[in-house]
Amino acid sequence: MAIVAPSLLASNFLKLQDECKMLNESEADWFHLDVMDGRFVPNISFGLPVIEQLRKTTTKQFDVHLMIEEPEKYTHEFKNAGADRLIIHWEACPSLHRNIQQIKAHGMKVAVAINPHTPVNFLSDILGDLDQVCIMSVNPGFGGQYFIPHTLEKIKSLKKMINEKKLKVLIEVDGGITLENAASISNAGADVFVAGSTVFKSADPKATIAALKKL
Ligand code: DX5
Ligand code: ZN
Repeated sequence: MAIVAPSLLASNFLKLQDECKMLNESEADWFHLDVMDGRFVPNISFGLPVIEQLRKTTTKQFDVHLMIEEPEKYTHEFKNAGADRLIIHWEACPSLHRNIQQIKAHGMKVAVAINPHTPVNFLSDILGDLDQVCIMSVNPGFGGQYFIPHTLEKIKSLKKMINEKKLKVLIEVDGGITLENAASISNAGADVFVAGSTVFKSADPKATIAALKKL
């Protein structure tokens, strides 16, 4: 069974409370929350005050994806806002090892995301310190983009690395996941599906989540 983490970036922000209610009633495992700073990525989304409010609506885990520069400056704030899992980008962290330890010290699960151009073997020396790797299957910054096919090879290579090292690191895949391509992504070795548009733009979001969950 896949872990399903719908991305609220594609939700109706005017009806956030209803969207959260829908997710609570669904089989969704986590809420995926995309924070963008207009510097690391060419878009600005939402941040701490919104996450703080959302925290009141659910007990499901918050998987917070920081697409921001210098994420280490805000570890404490995101913990306080309610993050359970914090995803930082390999490309944004020259002192990645230190940033990982800082997130763990705050009692959160830690994940590192890699952009489509970043090879999975760049993670080999820190893999044992991680709870999760987020493989970006689109260039981060926007919802509703197409899945980059080469990602499947990256998922397979990462799965192999994790198995060879006998680790229990989750592989999360983020971007362009649809009901059509989800099976191949799961077969390649993905444990967690992040899905924005596929869930929130569908006629029956709960049924879509249930369908993803079955894979
Ligand atoms: C992209 C974000 C994704 C995005 C996924 O920068 O990290 O989480 O919301 O959206 P879809 O599923 O529409 O590609
Ligand atoms: Zn994301």
